[in-house]
Amino acid sequence: MSTTTPAIHRGLAGVVVDTTEISTVIQETNFLTYRGYPVQDLAAHRSFEKVAYLLWHGELPDPVQLGEFQARERALRPLGRTTSELLARLPETCHPMDVLRTAVSFFGAEDPAEDDGSPAANRAKSLTLLAKLPTVVAADQRRRRGLAPIPPDPGLGYAENFFHMCFGAVPDPDVVRCFEISLVLYAEHSFNASTFTARVVTSTLSDLYSAVTAAIGALKGPLHGGANEAVMHMLEEIGDPRRAEEWLDRALAGQRKIMGFGHRVYKHGDSRVPIMQDALDRLVARAADPEATRLATLHAALRRAVLTRKNIHPNLDYPAGLAYHLMGFDTPAFTPLFVMSRVTGWTAHITEQLAHNTLIRPLASYAGPGQRAVPASAG
Ligand code: ACO
Repeated sequence: MSTTTPAIHRGLAGVVVDTTEISTVIQETNFLTYRGYPVQDLAAHRSFEKVAYLLWHGELPDPVQLGEFQARERALRPLGRTTSELLARLPETCHPMDVLRTAVSFFGAEDPAEDDGSPAANRAKSLTLLAKLPTVVAADQRRRRGLAPIPPDPGLGYAENFFHMCFGAVPDPDVVRCFEISLVLYAEHSFNASTFTARVVTSTLSDLYSAVTAAIGALKGPLHGGANEAVMHMLEEIGDPRRAEEWLDRALAGQRKIMGFGHRVYKHGDSRVPIMQDALDRLVARAADPEATRLATLHAALRRAVLTRKNIHPNLDYPAGLAYHLMGFDTPAFTPLFVMSRVTGWTAHITEQLAHNTLIRPLASYAGPGQRAVPASAG
């Protein structure tokens, strides 16, 4: 028997577990590409629907392919009566991420082809989720505001339709564009915690809905996607830009993690932040009101303070959290917006995992009691 102690990689930090053709984070240059295209260029020049198509099919769509894709997505947006009834029965005290997780699980239970894991069946399921999740998120936000749901409008694009379902109106194109930029930036990020969760579930040959349900659970946590919501709570807690430094001192002294800062992979800045920060700056300038200016000043003051004190850079959740607030979304709905986008990356990875599947099953180094005899009597 070997006596060598195995190397332990807590949190799988630095461990390469597989190859992927979907995206890559180049740490040295803080660069991110989807299927080879720089994410900054995609965010600046391509719609979210085109990026979803790219992630799933490996290439950007031509006009015919895009037309077919959009027609199918628009037709799938409405929720069935049973789904609407189920969602209406969930307690309003539960978190919107719980609603989304339940909805995806229910879609799985309703899907007659639930056990068919063929690539074609999974493509259809992925499109169903892309189309229906915004309808769930919008209806849930309205329910919590005491308002009736607004049915999807098949005449509107993905982002415009989402605003329409949430607020009954589509804001000006600058706001829609900022939202679309956030969706493109959130869509995919290699083997992050929720994507890896989806791949683990898929590796057992479980179904796509189970993998996405599990991924939503992983994304909900504040160390991952839940951070965009936590950023807003943190800004509200600080309140006054002049209190940012003092608040930070106390938070760090109390060993608190500063939400929206730091990253497992990027140690010198998140490649997605500059483009999202630009979008946020445009929203603030457009709002031109004292409340937006106060929040933007506070946001900038905290960013400077965290950089100065800890040399830790913001991640995408930092500008996205405040941007979503300025777009009018309720704070608990921020992470569900992340899900609406990241479901494209998750499902691309589910397909890739199935194409070269190996059960994901790491080892652990046992640190419990040595072997011992079970006591003779129960007493
Ligand atoms: N606030 C305070 N200190 C931090 C933060 C932070 N946000 N991030 C890292 N650090 C510190 C750690 O305390 C640690 O310090 P130490 O060496 O003195 O102990 C050091 O930086 C290294 O940090 P780790 O936690 O080891 O880094 P890790 O890679 O494990 O964590 C994580 C990354 C979880 C994202 C962390 O930075 C964090 O908790 N951030 C806040 C939550 C957050 O914003 N999550 C969103 C991630 S991005 C996304 O999902 C889109």
